[in-house]
Amino acid sequence: MRHLLSAADLSLAQINSILDVAEEMHDVQSRPVKKLPTLRGRTIVNMFFEDSTRTRGSFELAEKWLSADSLNMAAKGSSVSKGESMRDTMLTLDAMGVDAFVIRHSGSGAVYQASTWVKAQVINAGDGQHEHPTQALLDAFAMRRHFREVGDDDWTTKTVAIVGDLLHSRVVRSNVLLLRTLGAKVVLVAPPTLLPPGVSHWGTQVSTDLDEVVDHADIVMMLRVQRERMSGGFFGSEREYSDAYGLTPQRLARMLPSAAVCHPGPMNRGLEISSAAADAANSLILAQVSAGVAVRMSVLYHLLGTDEGAHV
Ligand code: CP
Repeated sequence: MRHLLSAADLSLAQINSILDVAEEMHDVQSRPVKKLPTLRGRTIVNMFFEDSTRTRGSFELAEKWLSADSLNMAAKGSSVSKGESMRDTMLTLDAMGVDAFVIRHSGSGAVYQASTWVKAQVINAGDGQHEHPTQALLDAFAMRRHFREVGDDDWTTKTVAIVGDLLHSRVVRSNVLLLRTLGAKVVLVAPPTLLPPGVSHWGTQVSTDLDEVVDHADIVMMLRVQRERMSGGFFGSEREYSDAYGLTPQRLARMLPSAAVCHPGPMNRGLEISSAAADAANSLILAQVSAGVAVRMSVLYHLLGTDEGAHV
C-alpha cells in the first residue's frame, strides 16, 4: 500500500492486519513510556487545511510515539494564506524530502489530487464530503473490541445503523465501504433531505424512520449535523430533527442490551445525540477517540514502517 486515500483501498486482510497491529499499539498507550523506534528517521508533514481536534491530535501523537519527525502545517500560517496554491505548497515541502503527508482538506477529492503531485506517501485525514478512511478504521477497532467484550465478534451477524446527516458526511462513506468489506449489514437512516444521491446503490439498507431501526441494531452510530456545510433548509427546526432523528433517552432505552452507541465527534449534544446517550455506559465515544491513536500508529506502521524498525 503506497497511499491510504479511501477505505475502498483496503482488502479484508489489510483491514484485519491494521486492526490487529492497532491492538498491540493500544497497549503502548497505557505504558508510562510511550515510545517505539518504529519510524525513527522518517519525516511526516501534517497538513490541515480544515479544523480538527481528534484526527490532528491523534496523528501527531501517533507520529511522536513511533519516533517519527513531524512538521505541522495549517493554511493559516503557511504561504497558502498569501495566495500560494495547494499544489505549489505541496511540491515545496515534497522537495525538502519528506516521507509522507497526512492531509485534511475541505475539498472532496483534494487529497487524491495531492497524491498525484508528490513523491511522498499520502494519507487522507478527511476530504470534504468524500472520505475519512482512518475514522472508519478506528470505528471498526472500537466496535470489534465491544463485540469481543459481549462475546461474539463475527461481523457477518452484526447490524450497524448509521444515522443523521449522511449527505454531508465523509465518515458514512468510508464506514459503508469498510463495514461491507468486513461483512457487516449496514442500515442508513436519515430524513429524505439528508440522504445522498445514489444511496440506493451503496449496498446498504436505507430507512427514514429511526424508530424502526434502533431496537435491533448492534451499533447505533450517530452523525453530526454539519451546519457549516448546509446552505438550505434540510429540516424544519432543531427540535423537530431531534425528536425524529436524535438518539434521545427514550430511544437509548429501546436499544438491545448488548448494543453500543458510537459518534465520530465532534458532537452536537441535544441535537443528534442526548447527553444521556453520549455518556451512557454503552457509549463507545471515548473508546473511539482512544482507538484513534492506536489505529493511526498502525496505519503509519503499515505504510511507512520497515521490518527492522518494527518493535512493538
Ligand atoms: N472525527 C473527526 O474527524 O474529528 P475531528 O474533526 O476533530 O478531527
